[in-house]
Amino acid sequence: MSTSMAGRHFVNVKDLSPEELARVLDSAAKVKRQPAEFRQKLAGKTLAMIFQKPSLRTRVSFEAGMTQMGGHAIYLAPTDISLGKRETTEDIAMVLSRMADLIMARVFGHDIVEDLAKHSRVPVINGLSDHEHPCQTLADLQTIIERRGRLAGQRFVYCGDGNNVAHSLMYGGALTGMHVTIVTPKGYEPNAAVLEESRQLGRQSGAEITVTNDLESGVRGADVIYTDVWASMGQEAEAEARKKIFMPYQVNARVMSLTKSDCTVLHCLPAHYNEEITYDVTRLPGSAIFDQAENRLHAQKALMLHLAGAL
Ligand code: CP
Ligand code: NVA
Repeated sequence: MSTSMAGRHFVNVKDLSPEELARVLDSAAKVKRQPAEFRQKLAGKTLAMIFQKPSLRTRVSFEAGMTQMGGHAIYLAPTDISLGKRETTEDIAMVLSRMADLIMARVFGHDIVEDLAKHSRVPVINGLSDHEHPCQTLADLQTIIERRGRLAGQRFVYCGDGNNVAHSLMYGGALTGMHVTIVTPKGYEPNAAVLEESRQLGRQSGAEITVTNDLESGVRGADVIYTDVWASMGQEAEAEARKKIFMPYQVNARVMSLTKSDCTVLHCLPAHYNEEITYDVTRLPGSAIFDQAENRLHAQKALMLHLAGAL
């Protein structure tokens, strides 16, 4: 018997069980195929969107998603509510819960989005924190299914900084049976607790989660290769130093020659071309970076439908 996801938070990928994640991904495919079927599903509902950092995809996909389903989204800019300065996170959660039906937050510290969830009576969705980017993973998994037919048994390689995006992908692989290898320079490996936990979850699905500093062995035979910027939002001061450390890990034609010939190329975007990935690689037939961006819309529409109890 399947349980409802109504009223639940989505702060971490592992907030969903493997079965629930599969259901959200199924709904995402349906929402993409038949958008008209969902046109009024969130009529009269409001999504409050808190942003401590800039965004193109996250803001537009959530906002357009609500519009397309008959609801409304309110953008709260960093200076609008000055989270934690003008008002406590707890009070913001209490107030928004009384006016909005869903809350989405893009924050610096993961503890902030956890705190919002703790005090909110309505579902809180993590739109990126320093620890996870779970909505991105939903769109990424949807894109891999579209391009490769399935997730289980795929050899997925993430090459770059072992932080938020990598963490969510590790959990995503662990829940779906997709093997995940994280290739990073020394000192930029993913969080040890995330590695341990994703390995444990992977034991149930058959997913192997590995971390290596060795680029060649790490990317060899990859079905999917993924990268992200070397300096995340908030780390701009480290950008120059990181360029030197990460340059040997650039995803370029030589790296692609080590992967499967039909390897799928992914990047969460925004991209810094000719840093973490060459422009040419992003324009190969195997590149799905813009499908991946589009799928943010479909995957999050599906997520909101489930959390709002409309599916
Ligand atoms: N990938 C992603 O989250 O993009 P934005 O930062 O533009 O929202
Ligand atoms: N790791 C990046 C992802 C951007 C979508 C960041 O946190 O800035």
